[in-house]
Amino acid sequence: MNLAGRTALVTGAARRLGRAIAEDLAAGGARVAVHYRGSAAEAAAVVDGIRDRGGEAVSFAADLGDARAVEALAAAVGARLGPVDILVNNASVFARRPIDTLEPDEWDATLAVNLTAPFRLALRLGRAMRARGAGKIVNLTDIAAARPYGDYLPYGVSKAGLVALTRGLARALAPAVQVNAVAPGPVLEPIDGTPEGNAAILRRTPAGRFGGTSDVVRAVRFLIESSDFVTGTTVVVDGGRALE
Ligand SMILES: NC(=O)c1ccc[n+]([C@@H]2O[C@H](COP(=O)([O-])OP(=O)(O)OC[C@H]3O[C@@H](n4cnc5c(N)ncnc54)[C@H](OP(=O)(O)O)[C@@H]3O)[C@@H](O)[C@H]2O)c1
Repeated sequence: MNLAGRTALVTGAARRLGRAIAEDLAAGGARVAVHYRGSAAEAAAVVDGIRDRGGEAVSFAADLGDARAVEALAAAVGARLGPVDILVNNASVFARRPIDTLEPDEWDATLAVNLTAPFRLALRLGRAMRARGAGKIVNLTDIAAARPYGDYLPYGVSKAGLVALTRGLARALAPAVQVNAVAPGPVLEPIDGTPEGNAAILRRTPAGRFGGTSDVVRAVRFLIESSDFVTGTTVVVDGGRALE
């Protein structure tokens, strides 16, 4: 799909990977909906930066843990920027909770944002893409989908579900819409990471370093732009971490 003149919605696009993806899609010529929850100032800066470079972007606030807010987000983006051609489900809850401190409600809260919101957005926007004859959905998963971390149980399960959702949607929305995933490994240092923890991650990563946002951005761009014959699959961007 050529990005020029297309409308893209990137969730969690105010910071980190989502921001880089949104800026890249805008640089490629897409109108970008920059979704955020709490990072209003950062989202505004992303929009300003895109506009300064001659691109088109609008920010939209929504708590993806709230089903009604998810539906309202999809409607608002369509009303403001036109039908969505590209959906990037990037926003995510990633909270370290060793089993002894994990509260049952955190399960629902994590799955709501990481799995149910992508499902709702894909259902609504993906059906419309199919009706128009073309569309791309890219879900940000994690190598933890296949190898769940013990201290991030709801997160790992949510990402495993997102992989299954990717594969199922690829069938359900075929042949018009391609649905794929990008599974980052140690791309950015965890927000709650420690020097010891980061060193341990690198010891288990053949590349011997953390990646960068551009590694993920290029994978997302590939899945959107290069071939309509790639669907239902996951591009792993992990410096070889999953080989262990
Ligand atoms: N970073 C990595 O190395 C890495 C590794 C593996 C997988 N991934 C995956 O790649 C994606 C991006 O990673 P990241 O590290 O850049 O993400 P992140 O910083 O952990 O989170 C991205 C955004 O998600 C939004 N978010 C959280 N809860 C939300 C809610 N209830 N409603 C709406 N938005 C919510 C936040 O928006 P606000 O700030 O506006 O509140 C946040 O900025 C994620 O899906 C992650 O699982 C990343």
